[in-house]
Amino acid sequence: MTEKRENWSARSGFIIAAIGSAVGLGNIWRFPYVAYENGGGAFLIPYLLALITAGLPLLFLDYAVGHKSNNSPPKAYRALFKGGETLGWWQVCVCIVIGLYYASVLTWAGSYIYFSIEQAWGNDPESFFFKTYLQTTDSSGFDMRYVSHLFWPIVGIWVLTLIILYGGVKKGVELSNKIFMPLLFVLFTILVIQALRLPGAVQGLNAFFTPNWSAMMDYKVWLAAYGHTFFSLSVGFGIMVTYSSYLKPKTDLTGSGMIVGFANASTEILAGIGIFAALGFMAFSAGKPVNEVVSGGIGLAFIAFPKIISSLGSGAGLFGILFFSSLFVAGISSMVSILEVPIAAMQDKLKWGRKKAVTIIGGGSAAVSIFLFSSVNSIKLVDIIDHFINNIGIIGGALLSIICVAWFKRSALTDLKNHINRISTIQLGRGWDFTLTVITSLILLTTLAMTIFGLVTKGYDSYSMSMQLIFGWGCVIFCGVVAVILSKMKDR
Ligand code: ALA
Repeated sequence: MTEKRENWSARSGFIIAAIGSAVGLGNIWRFPYVAYENGGGAFLIPYLLALITAGLPLLFLDYAVGHKSNNSPPKAYRALFKGGETLGWWQVCVCIVIGLYYASVLTWAGSYIYFSIEQAWGNDPESFFFKTYLQTTDSSGFDMRYVSHLFWPIVGIWVLTLIILYGGVKKGVELSNKIFMPLLFVLFTILVIQALRLPGAVQGLNAFFTPNWSAMMDYKVWLAAYGHTFFSLSVGFGIMVTYSSYLKPKTDLTGSGMIVGFANASTEILAGIGIFAALGFMAFSAGKPVNEVVSGGIGLAFIAFPKIISSLGSGAGLFGILFFSSLFVAGISSMVSILEVPIAAMQDKLKWGRKKAVTIIGGGSAAVSIFLFSSVNSIKLVDIIDHFINNIGIIGGALLSIICVAWFKRSALTDLKNHINRISTIQLGRGWDFTLTVITSLILLTTLAMTIFGLVTKGYDSYSMSMQLIFGWGCVIFCGVVAVILSKMKDR
């Protein structure tokens, strides 16, 4: 007998889970380093514009697609236009790929809670992070040597994620978010207040809030802003389609979307404030400008924060525990949402029971993720896969969903809008169609074309071509091929 499709217990359950999904490593780990790398203060304006011109309009589209069809992405898009199922599976595969490396960054966050107690990084957090902890080698090529102290923590992350997912929508996803989100709110508020009290914090905030007009002329800053928005809001890769498919028929979609969008953007900006205040403190202590105190990049949170923590004297351990616990708690609820997408898709397509879907999809993903990310290559793989899957996987999936609906199936867009307006408080007018059809799609088209051109002609960073081909382009090809194969399979 097939299991009945689950629902959230109430709209509040959905909102908490959607915030839990949106607020994640993207806000606390990714946003500050992307902002730092893209000119600090230069980034805030493109980020806000990306949110308004692309993030929120697409959030509403995702909600409408999932809620109207009551199905996960493959079936939801199939109901809208021919070939839609392939797009749905593409988004599902993007989630599978993100889940693999998301678990790795979560592992670092979890381990750093423990390292904070005694400030295990000593006087040199940078060397501790790369050399002692991750055991990164200088070689730019392929090296899969195994690191035992990465292995068990990543196994633990997967076990925790799968236990929550086995619980189902109400007793697993919703319940865990109801515990994690208030906890995150408390931890995060204390953290930001503490950071703002550091001497020199104002210097950091000035760096964050002063627009740098010349850096804004750099198209890469804009690419980064659009690339980040979708990841952060959890839109364009099936999560919000899936989550809204569990809503009851009469639910205010736009009102819920505004709450989720606002909560996500506020956490992100608060994380920026916290990190830049802390960087200001470092700059003040070292007598240098903010942009010279730390090398940016993917390790920012794991290098800058330990440096700050160590210089705090008494209370340092507590501050560290707060920061890395916030990162961990925010990340685990997003991790659950990322995995929920392929699990729900297989349940809907093949009528698998919950346990079977979690065991096969979750177990399979866990095996690959543990294998890849308990190696000396972990941070390089995170960097490469994150770059390709965000800038091609997510942007490509988002763009296709908009083009297929807004350009080629106008009646579907009108139906979706009418659906939203029938049940929601904030009504969508012509501005929404116009933004999606013209502004969002043209910006995403340009962003995607420039990213692909850059990657084909120059590659990404200084990684070897083989690493980029296997883990960067390989992930993109994996998503495409699997999406086509699965969409050809008959439903059960
Ligand atoms: N939206 C999630 C995050 O920001 C994926 O981490």
